[in-house]
Order: sequence, then structure tokens, then C-alpha cells
Amino acid sequence: MKTFSKETSSPEQTFSFGKEFGMKLEAGNTIAFFGGLGAGKTEFIKGICLSLGSKQMVTSPTFAIINQYDCVNTLGIKTVYHFDLYRLKSEEELFDIGFHEIMDDDSSVKLIEWSENSFKQLPKDRIEIYIKTSIHESENRSIEIKYL
Ligand SMILES: Nc1ncnc2c1ncn2[C@@H]1O[C@H](COP(=O)(O)OP(=O)(O)O)[C@@H](O)[C@H]1O
Ligand SMILES: [Mg+2]
Repeated sequence: MKTFSKETSSPEQTFSFGKEFGMKLEAGNTIAFFGGLGAGKTEFIKGICLSLGSKQMVTSPTFAIINQYDCVNTLGIKTVYHFDLYRLKSEEELFDIGFHEIMDDDSSVKLIEWSENSFKQLPKDRIEIYIKTSIHESENRSIEIKYL
């Protein structure tokens, strides 16, 4: 398993790290995010979406559970599906939003906030990103990327 980690000390640095990471993605990739409220998951995802050529506004789809952004890039990635499973009540709800079909789609990139809430349903072939806040410095984050 390949692992990378980085410390950031501002939202802008997390955003830039997301941009850098986004440039290395391939169509079909699923990225499962772990880390509590305000960790910086959406900030990192905004960077990914910018590097994949999405012009739409990226916000956490907390109530909708899923947002979809069109992309223009040279990587063959046409769509980003952005999930936020914070308010997921049961794993059955995933069927209602077409989660499993989307996971099988090879022309898109799938980003999942609050992956803790659907851990058993995550595709085995995935990249995991853990974002942790610091107890000492309010703007410090440790970001760990694991390619499973
Ligand atoms: N190093 C950092 N990286 C990311 N966000 C940070 C950082 N330091 C402070 N923040 C703040 O933390 C919050 C992160 O919010 P957000 O990305 O929406 O978190 P999440 O999606 O994990 O709930 C923002 O208000 C942002 O300004
Ligand atoms: Mg969020």
C-alpha cells in the first residue's frame, strides 16, 4: 500500500494540496474521506474539482447527499460525483440515490465525505484520505493519503 502524508497550516494549503492530488487522478477513481466536521474535506475537494476543470460551485451536499459536477480536462474524467454521507440514516438510503451504480461508473471520479457512514459499501479499490485537526494549532491539519 502506498501512503503519502502532509501537514497544512491554512485552508489555502489544503486547497492547493487537493489541486495537486486531483491532477494525478484517473477516470473511475473513488476517494473515501475520513475526518470530522470542519476537518477540511470540502476544502480539499474544492482543489480536486478545480484541477479536474469543473466550473460549478463546490459545497458539501449535506442535505442532498450527492452533488454532480461536469468537468472538462484531458484525463477523460467527465463528471465528479461528490457525496456527503453525514446525514445518511441507513445504508439502504444509498440504493435510493444510486450509490452502487455510480461506484461502477468508469468515466467519473467519486468523492465521498463521511465515508465512515458507509464503510461496508465502499468499493475495495479506493483511495482513502484521513484529515485530522491539531489540538495545538487551530489551522494545522494532517492529511494522509492511502492507495489501497
Ligand atoms: N489547514 C486547514 N485546512 C483546511 N481547512 C482549514 C484549515 N485551517 C482552517 N480551516 C478551516 O476549517 C474549515 C474546514 O471546512 P470544510 O472543508 O468545510 O470541512 P469538512 O468538509 O471536513 O467539514 C474551514 O472553515 C476552513 O477555513
Ligand atoms: Mg464537508
